[in-house]
Amino acid sequence: MKTGYLQFKPEFGNPDKNISRIKEMLSDKEFDLLVLPELANSGYLFIDKSELNDLAEDVETGKFCSALKEICSSKNAHIVSGLCERSGDRFYNSSILVRPDGKISVYRKIHLFDEEKLWFTPGYSSPEVYEISGENFQKVKIGMMICFDWFFPETARTLALKGAQIICHPSNLVMAYCQTAMFTRALENRVFTITANRIGYDVRENKELFFTGESVIVSPKGEYLCRGSKDKEEICITEIDPDIALNKNLNDRNNIFTDRKKEFYNL
Ligand code: ACM
Repeated sequence: MKTGYLQFKPEFGNPDKNISRIKEMLSDKEFDLLVLPELANSGYLFIDKSELNDLAEDVETGKFCSALKEICSSKNAHIVSGLCERSGDRFYNSSILVRPDGKISVYRKIHLFDEEKLWFTPGYSSPEVYEISGENFQKVKIGMMICFDWFFPETARTLALKGAQIICHPSNLVMAYCQTAMFTRALENRVFTITANRIGYDVRENKELFFTGESVIVSPKGEYLCRGSKDKEEICITEIDPDIALNKNLNDRNNIFTDRKKEFYNL
């Protein structure tokens, strides 16, 4: 199964340009599952809630979603992407899974970071796992989490316990720890993780944020299969065997799921 990430610099407030850049970067690429950064349609640094009104889109009718559907259909591939989503009069920091037949599933970020709490409604349901199949792979279960969700190990654990073999992780990381921490999320759950981070700055009036790049793909054995640069737009696509993530045995005597001592965790 060919899986990967696309690392780029979304331009704030310019979904058309962001769509064109993604199309251009993917034009000669083949993959089964590719992950794009968080808020890939809108950019990150909002200064006013009215901006969400202009930039957030409805999953069914939005132009960014419709462009991703076209790409997935033409490449017979799946894409997971961050999306500034509107639903009714609410805005969500969402991740969408787009399938080759155009069907879309949505996860809404449950752990909002800093000012995101001013703009977005937090997701109100447990992250789900979706089964996908394609030409080169059958019945692979994938889950989605978004950026700061990494700080709460329960998110990846929940997805792994629900059967996720691959955790797709659209991100706009502003701290430097996550790319290293995803090693642990992958290892402790014996899953593949794909963190697609963005690069560059968002500069808005008197505010500025720098995003740390270094997108990463980690295997269930804690191997870094890809690690991007800090500051370049790039794509990494790597061949994986997702069935490796079905085996939760660390050795003959330790199974990382059945060895859990839930009675002592008091959660
Ligand atoms: C983040 O959750 N975008 C830092």
